[in-house]
Amino acid sequence: MRRPNGMILYKTEAEVALMKAAAVLVSQTLTEVAKILKPGITTMQLDKLCADFVRDHKAIPSFLNYNGYPHNICASVNDVVVHGFPNDIALKDGDIVSIDMGVILNGWHGDHAYTFAIGEMSEEQSKLIRITKESLYKGIEKAIVNNRIGDISYAIQEHTEFKNKYGVVRELVGHGLGKELHEDPQVPNYGKRGSGSKLKENLVLAIEPMINMGLKDVYTDDDGWTVRTKDGKASVHFEHDICVKRDKALILSDYAIIEKAERENKNLSASASIVY
Ligand code: MF3
Ligand code: CO
Repeated sequence: MRRPNGMILYKTEAEVALMKAAAVLVSQTLTEVAKILKPGITTMQLDKLCADFVRDHKAIPSFLNYNGYPHNICASVNDVVVHGFPNDIALKDGDIVSIDMGVILNGWHGDHAYTFAIGEMSEEQSKLIRITKESLYKGIEKAIVNNRIGDISYAIQEHTEFKNKYGVVRELVGHGLGKELHEDPQVPNYGKRGSGSKLKENLVLAIEPMINMGLKDVYTDDDGWTVRTKDGKASVHFEHDICVKRDKALILSDYAIIEKAERENKNLSASASIVY
């Protein structure tokens, strides 16, 4: 998936500002998704909504035609880990759906993802979502100058695999981000502390834990894209775009707006079901 050429590109402050705009546009798009998600919605409807929203904001959906990918978003439901095709199947109560979206705005890429719960979650589903999101932030905490890629990787693996016995997908990794969707370096969600390349200021990374409820093993469907867990158990995917800084990484994408819409949507559907 990556096109490693061994060269790591660092961004100027002005470029980081442009990349933040691209990342936030993805966050705003995912916020539109959060507002309307409910049982009955299809992921194909979300694909259209996202593409229209992005084009209305003078940006280009970047996944469409990337290595032949045939849609605007990746919509990965339940046992689908990543790269699920949007389809006409209605989402139902108890589904877990990761929406991954990429845009090009003024020549710069934004690429991030959020996992949504449709209706009520079981205890074990909620925990998988919570731990995966927490692991992303634990990885981001390590994305500071003079740490190494392996410090990010280990922090994610420690929280998910070592502490919570989840499966960390090995075949897919996070990546550098810039004028290309996939730049160096790769950012695995497993690895050794102190290994890999040293982090320098203004390296922009997409960090994206893909964490399985059960075993780590995955396979790809005949469509050449859809990655699923071998054991058929659920998988969760969160992705942030971040910029390496001296004391604390700058998170370019914005989960706060997505989470607010998610809460409001949940309260709305909860109050709608109260019978007076
Ligand atoms: N976030 C995913 C990745 O970095 C999205 C890629 S989907 C593709 O691999 F269609 F663009 F390949
Ligand atoms: Co990515």
